Amino acid sequence: MGKDLIVNYKNEPCYEIKIRNDFSDLSKSIQMMNEKNYLRICIVTDSVVEPLYLKNVILKLSVDYPDTYITSFVFDAGESSKNLSTVQKLYQKLIQDQFDRNDLLIALGGGVVGDLTGFTAATYLRGIDFVQVPTTLLSQVDSSVGGKTGVDFEQYKNMVGAFYMPCLVYINTDVLKTLPAEQISSGMAEVIKYGIIRDFEFYEWLDSNVDKVKSLDQETLEYLIYQSCKNKKEVVEEDPTEQGIRATLNFGHTIGHAIEKLSHFKLYHGQCVGLGMVAAAYISMKRDIVTEGEFFTIMNILDSYNVYPELKDINIEDVISATKHDKKMNGQQIHFVLIRGIGISYIDTTVTDQEMRDAVEYILSI
Ligand SMILES: NC(=O)c1ccc[n+]([C@@H]2O[C@H](COP(=O)([O-])OP(=O)(O)OC[C@H]3O[C@@H](n4cnc5c(N)ncnc54)[C@H](O)[C@@H]3O)[C@@H](O)[C@H]2O)c1
Ligand SMILES: [Zn+2]
Repeated sequence: MGKDLIVNYKNEPCYEIKIRNDFSDLSKSIQMMNEKNYLRICIVTDSVVEPLYLKNVILKLSVDYPDTYITSFVFDAGESSKNLSTVQKLYQKLIQDQFDRNDLLIALGGGVVGDLTGFTAATYLRGIDFVQVPTTLLSQVDSSVGGKTGVDFEQYKNMVGAFYMPCLVYINTDVLKTLPAEQISSGMAEVIKYGIIRDFEFYEWLDSNVDKVKSLDQETLEYLIYQSCKNKKEVVEEDPTEQGIRATLNFGHTIGHAIEKLSHFKLYHGQCVGLGMVAAAYISMKRDIVTEGEFFTIMNILDSYNVYPELKDINIEDVISATKHDKKMNGQQIHFVLIRGIGISYIDTTVTDQEMRDAVEYILSI
């Protein structure tokens, strides 16, 4: 029943990822993660997830935590809430309810809830425990693992943050049933990314199981999420603070982030990463380090999972200039992730503006 992974940090076991198809193991898993007997638990969630799952989670927790004060904090769903003003309201709530360092926060929601709750947990009283209960595909396969937390500041995305590890990641695959199809496709971009950058076998599995994945078959989802988390875990264990190999997870993100910004975040993150992956694969093909055949299988798999939208009305020069403001720049050099075949990626600092222009022109033509 379910699958588990242990994530190490600095060569020591740090937290577990538990993949289940309901919430029934949640409180036992929290009890097993350390010796603490939490007196207060605050579940942080957003206005879309609250009516769907909050009651059920509180119910499950109160059975195993009869003497614990269980409360919740709900904010308006969406990236526009991922800021210091929401964090401030959460601090106020925690202070009012006298939360101290022996209490617990639970992030119940997508990447926005996870990033914001993690950041609050990292900074409130210099750090309190938090558990990730991710409810979007993107957060289950990517953002809940690895300890990156943070919020946006003014127009800058993820500008304020901390590396701060959760005590547990509890994934309930069943919640994906209520997730809109475009959000599933957006998460699939990051899933396929693992296959392209480091896991050819997984890539082939994804290629042959399109219908099963799309039908949200529970066993198929369990494997897909397990394999994705395993890939992310292996990368972050090797390079927890992105000094080297972790940067390959940014495959598709240089041009992807530029498009995301220029779309004023109207396009989903995964859709932009999908377009960015096409661009990066295109540059790799033009350099003859990826064959045309490999390039077109990548296009096919992204197509079958409806990962990228048709892109119109975008100015190529604006995209190039937006890539220069991305955090993936080191000094004046863009650290671009390219591939040498499917399953092998590396960081390249020699990608020229003209190569990027050609690639963006290509994605405008598809
Ligand atoms: N920390 C990291 O390593 C990392 C990595 C990637 C992305 N991120 C961050 O994650 C965020 C994006 O995450 P996201 O795509 O999960 O967005 P999100 O949290 O905004 O969720 C998308 C939408 O789906 C709704 N939702 C969530 N679960 C649902 C469910 N089960 N059923 C129905 N609706 C549901 C949410 O209310 C929201 O409206 C961004 O802020 C990004 O910066 C962080
Ligand atoms: Zn991403």
